[in-house]
This record gives sequence, structure tokens and C-alpha cells, in this order.
Amino acid sequence: MWGYLAALILLFPKGCRTQSFHDMVQSWEKYKEDCEERMRTEPPLSGVFCNRTFDLYACWGDAPANTTHAEPCPSFLPWYAKVKEGFVFRRCGADGQWERDETNMSWRNHSQCENYEPEQSQHETWILSQLRVMYRVGYTISLAALIVAVFILTQLRFVSKQ
Ligand SMILES: *[C@@H]1O[C@H](CO)[C@@H](O)[C@H](O)[C@H]1NC(C)=O
Ligand SMILES: *[C@@H]1O[C@H](CO)[C@@H](O)[C@H](O)[C@H]1NC(C)=O
Ligand SMILES: *[C@@H]1O[C@H](CO)[C@@H](O)[C@H](O)[C@H]1NC(C)=O
Ligand SMILES: *[C@@H]1O[C@H](CO)[C@@H](O)[C@H](O)[C@H]1NC(C)=O
Repeated sequence: MWGYLAALILLFPKGCRTQSFHDMVQSWEKYKEDCEERMRTEPPLSGVFCNRTFDLYACWGDAPANTTHAEPCPSFLPWYAKVKEGFVFRRCGADGQWERDETNMSWRNHSQCENYEPEQSQHETWILSQLRVMYRVGYTISLAALIVAVFILTQLRFVSKQ
């Protein structure tokens, strides 16, 4: 889940870059809770159908076998305002199982929910600035590790002197 959210963060569009990671995790959790509520309360389908599920990306209702099922783009996407008219699709096979891709991973078509970034060069600039931030954070971490190491060494020396 964290890797997935981190990947989403890297796809943040320019206009949404000030939205904090924390806000997005919160709206994802809200979406997940609403989905759990929906899965509890929606009446079940009859016959052969694919089961309702939350696949960490979108909330899926029951779908009759051999149909393509559409759900609105998930509201936790930072660029949701751009894609709120869009849908994400999954196919329910004739056997009542959600279709999977060649590598047996659950498959969905979320092309309508993607965020198109026309200003690619600006996006690259942003990624570079993020790398710089990561570098700075990494530097702080190694400085902290150095302080801890010095602390441990001095303490050890102190202990061995006694
Ligand atoms: C369908 O999903 C619901 C909610 O996640 C679960 O409680 C139920 O056991 C599932 N049914 C089947 C047949 O997998
Ligand atoms: C599923 O749909 C395809 C194409 O619409 C059809 O040829 C096939 O007979 C259907 N299978 C079942 C089990 O309904
Ligand atoms: C694909 O994954 C599903 C669920 O994880 C599993 O039940 C099924 O056996 C897998 N099929 C293959 C061909 O690996
Ligand atoms: C995904 O959906 C779009 C329309 O929303 C369609 O144009 C595209 O062909 C679909 N891709 C696949 C792999 O089904």
C-alpha cells in the first residue's frame, strides 16, 4: 500500500504538489471506509457474478458475469477534479471471476482516471527538486546516524573506563 501511494505521489500534477501526503492518505482512508460501508449494505446480485471488492484503487460493486463493469474514478486521486467525469473499468469473466492480466494480476482499465501532464519539462523539474529534497533528507539521516554512532562510542568508552 505504501509503495502504491508513493507511486501516486510521484505522479502528482504541478497544481496539486502542495497537497500533503497526509491529506491524500486521509482521503484514501475515507474512500476505503465508504467502500466497506457500501459493500456491507448493497444488496447482492443473483446468478453468476463477480464479487464486490476494494482493490486498494477503486471500490467495485457486484458485476454480472461476462460484463464490463464501470466505477467512477476514485475520489482520493489528487487530480480528481480533472477526472471526476471518468470511469475505471474491470471485466467480469463468464466464470464470475474478475479478469486478470497475463501475469495473473488483477486487471483494470483506468485510462480515464489518469492524469495527463502536458508540461513534461516542468514535471521533470519537479522530480529533480524532489530528488534534491530526498538527498537533503538522506543527508540529515546520515548526520543523525553519525550523532547516534558518536554517542554510542562515547558511552561505550565511558562504560569501559569504569
Ligand atoms: C464477497 O465479498 C464480501 C465482502 O468483501 C465477503 O464478505 C464475501 O465473503 C465475498 N463472497 C465470496 C463468495 O467471495
Ligand atoms: C460472453 O459474451 C460473449 C460475447 O458477448 C458471448 O459470445 C458468450 O457466449 C458469453 N458467454 C456467456 C457464458 O455468457
Ligand atoms: C491467479 O490468482 C488467483 C487468485 O490469486 C488464483 O486463485 C489462481 O489460481 C491464479 N491462477 C494462476 C494460473 O496462477
Ligand atoms: C481502456 O478504456 C479506454 C476508454 O476509456 C479505451 O479507449 C481503451 O482501449 C481501453 N484499453 C484497454 C486495454 O481495454
